[in-house]
Amino acid sequence: MKVAIAADHGGFEYKEAIKKLLEEMNIEYKDFGTHKGESVDYPDYAKPVSENVANGNFDKGILICGTGIGMSIASNKVKGVRCALVHDVFTAEVTRQHNDSNVLALGQRVIGEGLALLIVKTWLTSEFEGGRHQKRIDKIEGDCS
Ligand code: RB5
Repeated sequence: MKVAIAADHGGFEYKEAIKKLLEEMNIEYKDFGTHKGESVDYPDYAKPVSENVANGNFDKGILICGTGIGMSIASNKVKGVRCALVHDVFTAEVTRQHNDSNVLALGQRVIGEGLALLIVKTWLTSEFEGGRHQKRIDKIEGDCS
């Protein structure tokens, strides 16, 4: 599995912690920035990660900002991305099983680091169930009507 990861200044510290977790899990990743803690615009970081997941260069994406909301809004503008904003372990698992989410958004200012890492681990190791859920995803990829 190849993971694309990025954060703005509001998510920079968790990005570094998540990179360590990915290394422990022997998961290949590319860090799309930000590489410093200074103030940046989250859409500039959501876009390359989301596009690289949508075009198949990477299997999954992880985006972190202060709330996770800006990253998730920006990410879901890219066709083919199903970005889930997650702050608990239950939805981390179920969004993989039901939504086949391919990008995870987290808010560094919302939850503690231990929970964020457990969410990442759960999300990366949970599988899509297919079946009736595939039909629903197909409807999203159409026009949602
Ligand atoms: C940056 O201050 C903050 O707005 C950003 O990290 C994020 O929370 C936006 O949704």
